[in-house]
This record gives sequence, structure tokens and C-alpha cells, in this order.
Amino acid sequence: MRIIMFAGKGGVGKTSIASATGIRVAETGQRTLIMSLDIAHSLSDIFALDKGLIEKNKGMPVKIDDRLWIQELDIQEEIERNWGDVYKYIANIFNATGFDEILAQELAILPGMEEVSYLLHINRYAQEGDFEVIILDCAPTGESLRFISIPTTLEWYMRKIFKMERRVVSYIRPVARRFYDVPLPEDDYFMALENLFVRLDGIDKILTDPTITTVRLVTNPERIVLKETQRIFMYFSLYKMCIDAIVMNRVLPGNLVEEYFDAWKKSQRRYLKLAEEYFNPVPIFPVNLFQNEPLGKEDLRRIGAEIYGEHNPTQHFYKERPYEFHHKDGQFFIRIKLPFLAKQEVELNRLPEEIVIRIGGFKRHILLPRYVNTYKGVRAKMDGNYLNIIFGGKKDGKEKT
Ligand SMILES: Nc1ncnc2c1ncn2[C@@H]1O[C@H](COP(=O)(O)OP(=O)(O)O)[C@@H](O)[C@H]1O
Ligand SMILES: [Mg+2]
Repeated sequence: MRIIMFAGKGGVGKTSIASATGIRVAETGQRTLIMSLDIAHSLSDIFALDKGLIEKNKGMPVKIDDRLWIQELDIQEEIERNWGDVYKYIANIFNATGFDEILAQELAILPGMEEVSYLLHINRYAQEGDFEVIILDCAPTGESLRFISIPTTLEWYMRKIFKMERRVVSYIRPVARRFYDVPLPEDDYFMALENLFVRLDGIDKILTDPTITTVRLVTNPERIVLKETQRIFMYFSLYKMCIDAIVMNRVLPGNLVEEYFDAWKKSQRRYLKLAEEYFNPVPIFPVNLFQNEPLGKEDLRRIGAEIYGEHNPTQHFYKERPYEFHHKDGQFFIRIKLPFLAKQEVELNRLPEEIVIRIGGFKRHILLPRYVNTYKGVRAKMDGNYLNIIFGGKKDGKEKT
């Protein structure tokens, strides 16, 4: 199985690009599912489908073409299906603490339930082999980061908290019942949670296995969008996920003669260059700004052709991690593969949130995780084909090797 995730800031074109990719993959003959991970579903709109069709299917995959399905989950349905006792318990608490029953039911949808529902589906598809390729159309940055962090968080919770909580509750339940109105969770609650956890088993391996899952970041040649893309690039790297392409959407076509757009074109050129410094060696695929809103299969096919040309969209466009973060003995390292550059002079320039690396004509910006800001010194050291940037120790500021 192959999973391709499309992530990025809101409105940059994730759903359009994910759909275009899905169409193209299905046309190469593979059973393909495009799944929306955004509660504000817009897949059916982009394919110009009747919403009723999706609703009738209660959030299960809808076949829209030869070998092509789309899925927009129905979150209420998912909660009833997967979260039964957990949800009931939480709604009960809200209700017992004086909330109106309907409000209590709304409030009981905790952050994370949606993401877990998506993961449950993906894990099941992976086990049962329903689809050869799954395209994930992510929600905007924040939610998509929560999505990828859920397996680790849940694992931690189950190992550290869950067992203890269950034991404690079984001790204090008889006493608590006499003194408090707020119900303590029954064993059904714990069983439901445990059961969910079992069904998620293996999903973290699937998402971090670069031979299965790669992430494509969708962005635009604009300052604010690029900044956020740089941040999401760092977070996905921290989660050890493999980013294999950047899709640069909404590039003004070069043959545009209208003077009105000259300033835009100039600033886009600047940001296209900066994007290379941010994301190199991950390849950047440009997509032109369309004359109108791309809707329906024909427009999406055009986008697909622009991005992938002769390539199969499921191929891995970049196989390695562009850099890795490590943490050891009070020091923080960034490890970057830079073959052929060993003898040259490395220049580091530290900015408030990022480090700029210059080696001859090569320049790369890497955004730093926040906690690295507290590390004072920084130095660079070549180690075979790798450049290690080391934070920590006594030395300060800018340094050369
Ligand atoms: N290359 C493009 N040219 C013109 N309009 C585009 C292009 N890509 C996306 N759009 C339009 O921009 C809007 C947002 O795109 P969408 O794919 O829904 O973004 P996201 O999923 O990232 O929020 C939609 O109206 C879409 O049709
Ligand atoms: Mg979208």
C-alpha cells in the first residue's frame, strides 16, 4: 500500500492538488481512495458531486469513477460507532456537572476523537488491503499536526496513565459513589478505550515508514504562506515523516503580459528562490494560477499533468530525510547529508528562530524547534558525507569551521 498526504496552510490548494493526484493515480490502474481529513469537507464540491450521495453513504467511501473512491467521514456517525462508552461517559460528566443534555453531547466531542477516527479507518484499510493507494487531504496545519501526533500521544497515555487510572478508579469507586454526584468511569469506559487502542496498533509504523507514506506540502509563493510551510516542514521532520515533494501552487504564468501583475510576478520570483533555500533538496513542483476556480475532473486532470508530467504520482520523489534532529547529553544536533562539500568552508548564521547554513554557493535555512532557542553555542562539524550542526556547550553565536 502507498499513502500520500497533502498538508499545508488553509486555502493553499490542498484539496485541489490531492484530488488531481487521486485522479491521476486511479488512471494508472490502481485502486485509489481520496480521504478528507478536514472537518470542512470540500472533496465532493471539487468533484462537483451531489452532497446527498455522500450523506446517504454515512461517511463510507463513495465510488466516483473507475478505481476511484472518495471518503468524507461523518463525525457523529464515527463517534457512535467507535467511541460509544467513552463518549457516553464524558457526556455524562458534563451532564452531571449541570450542562444541558444536548450541550453536554456537543461538548463531549473531545479534540482528538476525529483524528483517531481517521486513523482507525486508515489502519483498517492497511490491514484489509481495500485500496492500493490512499491519498489524504489534510486539514490546515494545526489539525494535521495533531493528527500525526496522536499515535505517539496515545501510546504514552496507555503506557503511563491508563493502567494507573483504571486501578485507582476501581479502588475509589465504592467510596466516591457516596460522596460525589459526578460519576466515575465504569469498566466499559476502560474497555472501550483499550479496544480502540488495539485497533490503532501499527498505525504509527505505517505513517513513519517512508516506503509507504510520504508527505507533500502544498504552498504558494507568498511570504506568510511560505513561513508556515517552513514550520510544518520542521514539525513533520520532527515526527520522522518523509516529505518527498513541495507543490508550489498559484504561480503566475510567465507569459502574462498584463502590467498590473508585474509587482506580483517579481515578488513571486523572490519567494520561489527562497523556497529552494528552505526546502532543497526536496523537489518543488510548480502549478500555475488558473484563470478560474479549478472544478471538476477536466480541470483537475490539467493540474495533475502540470505537477507530474510523465511521472507516476506514487513514485517517491525524495527518499531521504533532508535533515534529522537529535538530542543527546544536553546537546542538540541537526544532521544534514551534504556529499561533495566536505572541504569547503561552512558558515553558520543564527537568527532568532532559524539557522542559515552557507557553504560556497549553497545556502539553506532550517527552522529550529522552540526549545533549541535556549541553547547558546552553535558549531558545525563534517562527519563523512554529513554536516553536523551542534547546539549547546559554551561557545557563542556565529562560528566558522
Ligand atoms: N492553481 C489554482 N488556480 C486557481 N485557483 C485555485 C488553484 N488551486 C486552488 N484554487 C482554488 O483555491 C481555493 C482553495 O483551494 P483548496 O484546494 O480548497 O485549498 P485547501 O484545501 O488548501 O483549503 C478553491 O476555490 C480552489 O478552487
Ligand atoms: Mg481543503
